[in-house]
Amino acid sequence: MPSLRKSVEKLGVDAVDLTLIHWPAPQGEVKPEEYLTALAQARDLGLTKQIGVSNFTIQGLKQAREILGDVPIVTNQVEIHPYLQNRALVDFAKNEGLHLTSYMTLVVGKVMNDEVMKDIARQHQATPAQVALAWAMAQGHSVISSSTRRENLESNLKALDLQLSEEDIARIATLDRGERIANPPQLAPDWD
Ligand SMILES: NC(=O)c1ccc[n+]([C@@H]2O[C@H](COP(=O)([O-])OP(=O)(O)OC[C@H]3O[C@@H](n4cnc5c(N)ncnc54)[C@H](OP(=O)(O)O)[C@@H]3O)[C@@H](O)[C@H]2O)c1
Repeated sequence: MPSLRKSVEKLGVDAVDLTLIHWPAPQGEVKPEEYLTALAQARDLGLTKQIGVSNFTIQGLKQAREILGDVPIVTNQVEIHPYLQNRALVDFAKNEGLHLTSYMTLVVGKVMNDEVMKDIARQHQATPAQVALAWAMAQGHSVISSSTRRENLESNLKALDLQLSEEDIARIATLDRGERIANPPQLAPDWD
């Protein structure tokens, strides 16, 4: 709560749109009841319009839903990209009507050098980054790719106009190799 108050103050706004718990506490050191209830309280107080979680597993999501009851978890922000397609979690979220946000959608820039992504991009006069973003959005995920360059930010936005074919999607499906980047040994939960 103090950190959220500080952020709201620094930003000079009354409330932020969305606040996420960045990571589940490893080995349950801090009980989910404690931090999820605080998150819901921040929403009740109007410090944040919506709340969500990040790096939550299926089990964590089930537990979070039980704790939060009617308070909606608007997203679970997780690592999803062509090399880590996170299918068990994606299927669970789809069945449960839970929204996901894909982070590291560009595999931190690696998609630019992938031959399949480059080939699909060529066919659409697009870039591999646009293809990765369009692929994630086609599954209904939000994307939050980052760039330090204005030209890349502008170019990546054009992914909104890119329509991939079923064949493109099927080719990207073959790239999954379980390559998890954000996996700190002391913090990582038992991933799905
Ligand atoms: N919740 C979590 O635990 C968690 C974990 C990791 C990341 N995240 C969030 O996810 C977001 C994205 O993650 P990320 O930045 O690590 O990975 P990313 O979006 O997959 O990749 C960013 C990298 O791609 C390059 N890039 C972007 N657009 C490009 C383009 N059009 N052409 C060539 N290169 C391009 C960028 O380089 P340039 O700067 O040179 O364009 C940068 O090196 C961040 O906002 C981060 O905070 C969340």
